[in-house]
Amino acid sequence: MCGIIAGITNEGDIKQPVLSQLKKLEYRGYDSAGIATITDHQLHMLHSIDSIDALTIDANIQLKATTLAIAHTRWATHGAVTLENAHPHIAGNRIALVHNGIIENYNTLKESLENMAIQWRSTTDSEVIAQLIYQQLKQGVTIENAIEKTIPQLKGTYALAIIDLENPDKLFCIAKESSLILGKTKNSVYLSSDLNALVGICEQACQVPQGQLLTLQANSISPATHASTLQWQQISDITEAEPEVSHTHETITHKEIGEQPAVLNKLINTHCQQQDIQLPKGLQAALQTHQRIKIIACGSSYYSACVGKYWIEDIAGMPVTVELASEIRYRNPVIEPHTLLITLSQSGETLDTISAQRYILSNHPHMQSLSIGNNALSTLASESTFFWPTLAGAEIGVATTKVFTAQLFCLASLCCALCQDPATKNKRIAALSTLPEWITQVLAQEPIIKRHAQAYQHDAAMIFCARGSNFPIAEEAALKLKELAYIHASAYAAGELKHGPLALIEENLTSVFFINEDKHLAKTRSNIHEVLARKGKILLMGSQKAFHKTTIQNTTAIHFIATTIESPPEEITPFTNVIGAQLLTYHIAKHKNCAIDKPRNLAKCVTVE
Ligand code: M6R
Repeated sequence: MCGIIAGITNEGDIKQPVLSQLKKLEYRGYDSAGIATITDHQLHMLHSIDSIDALTIDANIQLKATTLAIAHTRWATHGAVTLENAHPHIAGNRIALVHNGIIENYNTLKESLENMAIQWRSTTDSEVIAQLIYQQLKQGVTIENAIEKTIPQLKGTYALAIIDLENPDKLFCIAKESSLILGKTKNSVYLSSDLNALVGICEQACQVPQGQLLTLQANSISPATHASTLQWQQISDITEAEPEVSHTHETITHKEIGEQPAVLNKLINTHCQQQDIQLPKGLQAALQTHQRIKIIACGSSYYSACVGKYWIEDIAGMPVTVELASEIRYRNPVIEPHTLLITLSQSGETLDTISAQRYILSNHPHMQSLSIGNNALSTLASESTFFWPTLAGAEIGVATTKVFTAQLFCLASLCCALCQDPATKNKRIAALSTLPEWITQVLAQEPIIKRHAQAYQHDAAMIFCARGSNFPIAEEAALKLKELAYIHASAYAAGELKHGPLALIEENLTSVFFINEDKHLAKTRSNIHEVLARKGKILLMGSQKAFHKTTIQNTTAIHFIATTIESPPEEITPFTNVIGAQLLTYHIAKHKNCAIDKPRNLAKCVTVE
């Protein structure tokens, strides 16, 4: 959740790149930010609860050029959003550290230091780590020994970057169940919780091996035994160049919504070459040995997995179960033999999903797993048998948009790879190749969607309904409305309305129905009439042709947004519908003046349970 960036150099002022890259981590949490440096034999720290921009302005005025810096952006877990709880944390005016993760036994550890007359600065779980290291140093041990003696006392998860006034030419790091990435250039070494923050400043990157203390200097990493095992990769090989966008965008989320045709083009060119699906090495053979699939994911990734279930069961005839990662690890799931485990995660660092995979694999050590993700250097990618990239480029907006459609594309492609009937497979691959055109059509409707959105800005709640593979899209649309516009929303399979939710319908409540020219249209039409009969307001979204087929009039109780003129093939409609929903919820939020890129209380990468 929190973001860490730290660096050590023997050339120039490291504070500048550290602060500029900290801005790239803002999406991981934006409650407070801070930086610590060592210059003139002194530890210097600055914190801000305003913004990283405010911190940067202060740092440029107050901090001298430095060769060593650690910085942090916080998503509050333990302790309120205050200056005192902002990282870095300091102990004895000698140690400063930044932490990502949670120390579960921090209260017990604090109690163990009761006799030390410590003036605690914060109410966080993190400060105790700095104090424990400092207490060890007071015994006269080296800094490396002090950290090594502290680590076994910590219960929980951590990625730590630590500096010591007595060792101004060294940066220390260690991680447990929390991602920490090393980056290097000719004269500098960097550390970050996120590969994204190393792009543009480093040429190579690798993961910090779990549980190994590393000492970083500008030109070296020690101990040599650990350093020799680091698996460096060229950053350009594992990250995507940002898609070109022709016009300027009002927010990052808006830019990312607009990038979707380019992302899908890239996916088509990479994953669907020569009329076939290009799976990661070894996966095609592995698929032959599996009889069923279990997908685990959270939030939007869970909803895209649910769409994948409809597709794979329908077209490939392979049974698929989809489970919320946060639930599965606290029960005893029955996993049948020959099950392929798939994790779906934009970040690859969602702790619920990582823990669920670890739990399942610990009980089924021979199970193979496929991580579908947007980060090749993530924990899920490294802990899975196979990794398939979603190739969407960095997604910064906290509410996912382009990665959601990229996930859908990978699942649609997997469905083709599993399909046993060549004619169906070819037809679906051909349909997938038309995606960018359909999506471009939906994006072109933005001015109309924006106008409609204005009408809903004061609504207290909304309902989203659809049938078939578009039901999970209704759930994703409801989540987008909650995240972006802070409006309560529920989603229902349209056929479920009559089983209870109809009781909610009254003249102030709008129900959004996704309509498509498919086998569900006649039944969905009946569900729309059930709502109308109870004086509910309706917003229909879908193709012009599907709307005509409903034979429902566009009256004051019913509004219609044509996302396309012609009806897309059935397998394309989850894409066109979700992008229509992204634009609708985005513009409702825009009319309400919400903080679209950084919705309140949220963080992009959820590394706590
Ligand atoms: O990185 P992940 O895909 O594992 O993240 C899972 C959810 O936290 C994420 O999809 C969340 O629901 C998004 N904010 C939705 O927009």
